[in-house]
Parts: sequence; C-alpha cells; structure tokens
Amino acid sequence: MTALDTAVELFTTQFGGEPDGVWEAPGRVNLIGEHTDYNQGLVLPIALPQRTYAVARARADRVVRCVSDGMDPGIPVDLDDIAVGHPSQWERYPVGVMWALREAGHELAGMDVAFASDVPVGAGLSSSAAIEGAMGAAASDLFGLGLLDDDEGRSVLATVCQRAENVIAQAPTGGMDQAASIRSKQGHALCLDCQDGSVAHVPFRLSEAGLALLVVNTRVSHSHSDGEYGSRRAQCEQACARLGIDSLREITPQTLPVALARLNDDVLARRVRHVVTETERVRLAARALADDDFVELGRLFVDSHASMRDDYEISCPELDLSVVTALEAGALGARMTGGGFGGSSIAVVYAAHLEQTMNQVASAFDAAGHAAPEFIVAQAGPPARRTA
Ligand code: GLA
Repeated sequence: MTALDTAVELFTTQFGGEPDGVWEAPGRVNLIGEHTDYNQGLVLPIALPQRTYAVARARADRVVRCVSDGMDPGIPVDLDDIAVGHPSQWERYPVGVMWALREAGHELAGMDVAFASDVPVGAGLSSSAAIEGAMGAAASDLFGLGLLDDDEGRSVLATVCQRAENVIAQAPTGGMDQAASIRSKQGHALCLDCQDGSVAHVPFRLSEAGLALLVVNTRVSHSHSDGEYGSRRAQCEQACARLGIDSLREITPQTLPVALARLNDDVLARRVRHVVTETERVRLAARALADDDFVELGRLFVDSHASMRDDYEISCPELDLSVVTALEAGALGARMTGGGFGGSSIAVVYAAHLEQTMNQVASAFDAAGHAAPEFIVAQAGPPARRTA
C-alpha cells in the first residue's frame, strides 16, 4: 500500500466521512552547504520524490486533531491553546504550523488531518519539514490563504514552518529544510541564499550524464533537539560577537585569514572556517551543476566532507566509512549530508556502478560491525502541492 493510500485509509478509520482534499510535501537531501543556513549562507538541496501526505478536512470549531500512520493519535488541541509543550508529542510539528500561521496573521479554523509518509524518519532527510509542509499546504488551501500560488507565498509558508519547528517543536534549525520542501522545482536543485531568501533553480541532470545520486542512510539516529546542533550554532554566534559582525556571511574567503587570526581560538576558528569555505563551495557547486561538470561537483563534495569531519566535527564513524567506501568504489564525490552525527551520506556514482557501490558499502558496514545501511537513489521531485 502506498503512503497516499495509507493516509486516506487512516483518515476514514479515524475520522470517518469524506476529506476535503489531500496535500503532500517532500523530504529533502542537501547536495552541499551544511550548517550554512543559520549563518546566512548558501545551501543547495533537492526535494525528494519521497513525501508526506496530509488527508485533511476543515472543522467548524477551533479544534485540531492529527493522526499519523504508526504513531499514537495526537491529542486534540484548541487553536488558542497551542504553546511550547502543548502538544508535546510528534503532533507538535504539524500543530505548530497552525500556531505559526496565526502568529503571521492568518485566520484559521480547526482541522482533522491524517498523515502517512514514505520519507525515512531519522535519516537526515527532513521528515519533519515534510510533515510541516504538508500541514501548511493543507491549511493554506482550506482557509484560502493562497500561499502555494507563487514563490512569494511559498517563501512565507517556509518561514512559517521553520518558526513552528523553532518555537513549538523547540528545534533550533535553520530554514533550509522547509525551503527545500516548499520552494523547490522538480528536476532542479534549489540554490537558496539564506541572507536575502532569494532562490535560483539549478538543473539537476545527473541521470542524463549516466550518473546517480546514491543516498546511504547509516541508520545512526540523530536529533536536532540534542545539544550538538545547538552548540555549533552557539559557537558561530560567539565568533560573530567576538568579531563584531552580525553573521558569518560577512566574512569572505579573502577576509577569512584575518578573521581567523583575530579570533585566536582554535575551536571557533575551525567552525568559522567550515562555514565560510562551505558557502564558497555551494557557489562553485551550483555553477558546476549548471555546467554538468560532475567531476568538479564531486571534488567539492570531498572537500565539504573533510571540512565537516575535521573543522565542524559533525561526522561519525558510519558516515566516514560510507564516504570512504563510496569513493573507493569509484564515486566522483561523497559527503555526509544534513545536520550530522548520523543520518545519511550522499555519493555521485556512475549508474553502472550503483549495484557494486551499494554492495561494497554494505560489506564495509558489516565488517565494521555496523547495522546494515539503507540505500536510496535520489531524484529531484516536486515541491509541496495539492495531491487531490
Ligand atoms: C538540519 C537543519 C537545517 C540545517 C542542516 C545542516 O537539517 O534542520 O536547518 O542547518 O541541519 O545543514
């Protein structure tokens, strides 16, 4: 049964009657540009074909009820009672979107919503942005907000979903995941400038060149609410305070050596070096992608991984092993993707080598005593939209 069918069935069994419609929003995989979003830098994700479906119906009162495949039913919440810690379980992600929409000045009523998803959870592929995006898309259409109509509206919705995650779900993330899920274009990567919110859609033509993007889910689970993500963010803020700047975007590759010398702190200097060089790599990667220069793209992946492993210190043995093994198997480039400390890596692989690369990575994991990884061949799917 597909995720869509599951969501429809769940709606019928939990709420009964006919829904008003079905909406969907994708997970994402970031090609390059890690921990640059909250530093006002550049990111280059693609939306995945894997997505979360929201089967929804507006209510006449102000109660929001959410159910999700494989989860305990969410508690019914009145729109006026949504707050940090209420609700406290998984449903705080979608319910938080209702809170953030109202904060942004939109008039809403209650909703009954059933979710099901084929985005792997805990794989660093933004299952949370997918559920937020699906909820936001449904609410926008059901209450006539028009936020899916153009990129301007989608940009507003992405910011709303990020705010739901930051405030109600209490995860201090940047805005990349929600932008990827809501503002992407099928067949393209999204080059997002987190300083001014502008986007460029860059053609993603790996398959035309006989290549594929292999995602290796290490199955090591990560959590953004835990301390490491927040501590990296705090270190960046500390560096800005010491340098007297508003964001690390103010540092260029040219001014980097002077900034690092002024910091005079090894850990902060390495964090800053990662962020500044990573935004430069995104700039180069977007150009390489547009030029179908996948050798250059691969080279940038390798540099990015080294920077995250050594300077930002967010990799882990499973991610490093998947990257090294993919490169040994002939990948043009490989790197960890997402927040780090587990989740997934990606590799640019010749389609003819896919099978062998997966076998080599699986054997290496087995030999190292790690749990078997999961493989996904990623394509650039459409953004959040009405399904039916
Ligand atoms: C997570 C966050 C994003 C971003 C990445 C790292 O996915 O949700 O905002 O910071 O980590 O690039």
